Amino acid sequence: MTLTLHVNGRDHAVSCDPDTPLAYVLRNELGLKGTKLGCGLEQCGACAVLVDGKSTLSCVASADSFVGRDITTVEGLEHTETGRRVQAAFVKASAAQCGYCTAGLVIGVTGLLNATPTPDRETAIRALTPHLCRCGSHPNVLRAVEIAAGK
Ligand code: FES
Ligand code: FES
Repeated sequence: MTLTLHVNGRDHAVSCDPDTPLAYVLRNELGLKGTKLGCGLEQCGACAVLVDGKSTLSCVASADSFVGRDITTVEGLEHTETGRRVQAAFVKASAAQCGYCTAGLVIGVTGLLNATPTPDRETAIRALTPHLCRCGSHPNVLRAVEIAAGK
């Protein structure tokens, strides 16, 4: 079946089983490898993408459920002011170690700031709870949130 997905500002026609989770379509059909696969069970946050500006896990929900939605992967963040600001803040705060979780966290923080431009620490922690990091980068990620929020 052919689906049309709107990703990073343009339409992409992809041939796939409509039940295929979005993350697999992004990585394998569109070559957008920035979206990582970790648990595959909506429990780690590695696969987060923005859907209509909101951080959304992509490892379980089927690709066809995203037709007509505005999808942004980590590769597309440079085209948004908030995304650029968050990426710069991650660099400034040294908020990545091995980096496996980082794309998901950058998406998560961008989604947070889209909804709440100057979040307090509790709000940031709550918003980033779906994101696991085995390297312990969370303190620096919270610093990145502060930097990106202009605090
Ligand atoms: S890979 Fe999607 S939440 Fe872990
Ligand atoms: S930086 Fe290694 S898993 Fe988060």
